[in-house]
Amino acid sequence: MTTTRRPIVAGNWKMNTTVPEATVLAAAVRKAVDGVHGVEVVVCPPAVSLVPVHAVLDGSDVGLGAQDAYFEATGAHTGEVSVEMLASAGATYVIAGHSERRARFGDTDDWVSRKVRAILSGRLVPIMCVGETLDEHDAGQTDAVVTRQVRAGMAGIGAHEALGVVVAYEPVWAIGTGRPATPEGANETCGTIRAVVADLFGAAVAEAIRIQYGGSVTPANATSLFAQPHIDGALVGGASLVAANFGAVVSAAAARHG
Ligand code: 13P
Repeated sequence: MTTTRRPIVAGNWKMNTTVPEATVLAAAVRKAVDGVHGVEVVVCPPAVSLVPVHAVLDGSDVGLGAQDAYFEATGAHTGEVSVEMLASAGATYVIAGHSERRARFGDTDDWVSRKVRAILSGRLVPIMCVGETLDEHDAGQTDAVVTRQVRAGMAGIGAHEALGVVVAYEPVWAIGTGRPATPEGANETCGTIRAVVADLFGAAVAEAIRIQYGGSVTPANATSLFAQPHIDGALVGGASLVAANFGAVVSAAAARHG
């Protein structure tokens, strides 16, 4: 199957890097992906580093993303950051519903949906994460879980908005474990996600929407993951903290789709 979907590789730095470290890493990433074409590249530093990283990336093709946003616009929500604030800091992407937020910070399917809608309303690109836990995986519930999460997360949006969503399939058991899903297994679940999108928004949206895989992606496994027809890029954690490794993952995406 040939696809016209432009691959997207995003680095989720999670709670790593001080402000000076973030600017150094961003400069190194900028250099590492310079000259690579055909791939949308995004880095998602901690919120406090968005402004200085934006300055470092100025004039490059590397996009800037935030790791989370609150869905309210303003008000008494101590510690939270709104979509408008993130946009004013230079972010054009926002991760929503990462499994670490679902597991540790109480993000529910409903909250993920509200965040996705707030991000779209602010004209930013949501990177909406879905994925099953190890128990759910072992119980054969993967398809049921991702179907529920995709349906809930995309509730209340129209087909045109759905086109602007990036879905990241991140099996929880593969995150930070050095044990990625097999390319075939990841592809199968990304195919399930695409079928859910087709059901919700029609075949054309399903064909166009981008679905990333995330979970222990490295330069060593990226090529075989990107060879799969339903995998349109990656959401990279640990490997995104080393510019050369992140650059190699980006190059693997370019080689596959370029
Ligand atoms: P790792 O690449 O470290 O497994 O993390 C994946 C992830 O959670 C990206 O959001």
